[in-house]
Amino acid sequence: MNWLRSLMMPAPGSSYATEVDDLYMLIFWINVFFFVLIAGLLSYFVWRYRRRRPDEITPHISHNFKLEVVWSVIPLIIVVVIFFLGFQSYMNARIGPGEALEIQVRGKRWVWEFEYPDGTRTLNEIYIPVNRPVRFIMSSEDVIHSFFVPSFRVKMDVLPNRYTDLWFHPTEEGVHTLLCTEYCGRGHSDMLGQIHVVSEEKFREWQEQGDERTRAMPLAELGKLLYESRGCVTCHSLDGSRREGPSFKGIYGETHAMRDGTAVLVDENYIRESILMPQAKIRSGYEAIMPTYQGLLRERELAALIEFIKTQK
Ligand code: CUA
Repeated sequence: MNWLRSLMMPAPGSSYATEVDDLYMLIFWINVFFFVLIAGLLSYFVWRYRRRRPDEITPHISHNFKLEVVWSVIPLIIVVVIFFLGFQSYMNARIGPGEALEIQVRGKRWVWEFEYPDGTRTLNEIYIPVNRPVRFIMSSEDVIHSFFVPSFRVKMDVLPNRYTDLWFHPTEEGVHTLLCTEYCGRGHSDMLGQIHVVSEEKFREWQEQGDERTRAMPLAELGKLLYESRGCVTCHSLDGSRREGPSFKGIYGETHAMRDGTAVLVDENYIRESILMPQAKIRSGYEAIMPTYQGLLRERELAALIEFIKTQK
């Protein structure tokens, strides 16, 4: 019956997912059984006790004690069993094992930031080893977000001023989608990312050197990738249209008026400063809402973004 399961739910990627699916399927089949039983009996009785003659009178039956006990006790046992299975599963989902890999997760408009114990930080994309429990400690820098990984069957609100946590035990190597399920503003749907579940070796390799693919990319191409994956795209357009931040179109080499009345030439140093210390110079007509990327970009990635902005003529 795996095909039926896959019609209703994405392929399971964690130990907990299988547990949830088993319980879901149990409830599903109980429902199917009672639907067939009740709808079947109903149809049968409609036919069996139809009025045959105009003067036919139904005998008066007030109740049936045995039948009433049966249809009360059996459902009671079924819902109590479902409650215990569900409660057990819920406890498994909430309380993780002690020896998990702990990763900090910060939600902010409109990007997910991850921080590993060794200081590695990533945005919207993370690598974790297969068959090792992972615990996320989550908080928000602004509004309420909600962290959801459908194939792991885990979901938890991410709140400002409070930590929430979430754990899972990934069982399948592969790429899993993560998303925000709390409407948090215009860029809500951009809070979309990937969890790469890889072998222990590949995980170590990634921690040391970063992504193999991006290491070989030309700067401007890498810049474009970062522009899309690191959240720049949500506030900075490429076609000149206005969003929360200035468009990148033709920006390089222009002179812009700042809020404090000064004028600034958009060159490499200004772009670099704006990425790392966004509050330092605010262009007039715009809000100071950009988060800092300090520590989030490798030197080469910064150069790549600057190069990419330069190519936007
Ligand atoms: Cu964050 Cu929706």
